[in-house]
Amino acid sequence: MPTDASDSATPAVPRRRRDVRVDATGVRLRPVERRDLATLFEFEIDAESNALAGTKPRTREAFFAAWERNLVNPEIHARVIELDGARGDGAVEIVGTIARFQANGQDHIGYWISRAHWGKGIASRALESFLDLEPRRPLHATAATNNARSRRILEKCDFVLVHVRTDQETERFLEREIAEFVLG
Ligand SMILES: CC(C)(COP(=O)(O)OP(=O)(O)OC[C@H]1O[C@@H](n2cnc3c(N)ncnc32)[C@H](O)[C@@H]1OP(=O)(O)O)[C@@H](O)C(=O)NCCC(=O)NCCS
Repeated sequence: MPTDASDSATPAVPRRRRDVRVDATGVRLRPVERRDLATLFEFEIDAESNALAGTKPRTREAFFAAWERNLVNPEIHARVIELDGARGDGAVEIVGTIARFQANGQDHIGYWISRAHWGKGIASRALESFLDLEPRRPLHATAATNNARSRRILEKCDFVLVHVRTDQETERFLEREIAEFVLG
């Protein structure tokens, strides 16, 4: 599994060739790096995104501390989602993240797209691409039941709804009804 730690251990292999996945529509997945964190934090604190996901944004300090741990955790496979030419000037822009991580002893996936880029099919294409890269199965995913966008994305990629539950409010999440999905 590619991680930042393994990348730094093999500097002779160009990351661009070895570890960047680009689909036909210009959606690119590459490993997360420290230099990405300030941009990802801006995505994390967007109020509308949090309302849709049923989450509470972390403080900047908590966010950076969590990602410092994530970057060296071999149980986390995290990718930045980039879009070729998103600004129309030929540049590559960071538009989100997607990751496989452990929760309750299971492999889960999650994703987050910058609100400026919602509705362009980016999460759908990123998930499809990520599932080609990520061999672990089963993969679990949860979405607030009122997060129709996320539920639609999961269903398009053959995740199956297996359970609906209500979760209490925590430091990180609002009280919400959760749909649990699995890809076997
Ligand atoms: C959920 C999220 C990832 C969607 O990203 P996106 O790139 O806009 O999604 P896509 O454009 O690939 O696909 C959205 C799908 O939902 C559909 N959709 C959009 N609004 C909808 C609505 N109100 N009801 C039902 N479906 C809707 C779109 O038509 C599209 O389906 P289609 O491809 O069949 O047309 C993004 O809004 C986000 O990051 N939200 C904040 C964080 C979050 O919710 N993460 C997921 C936590 S479970």
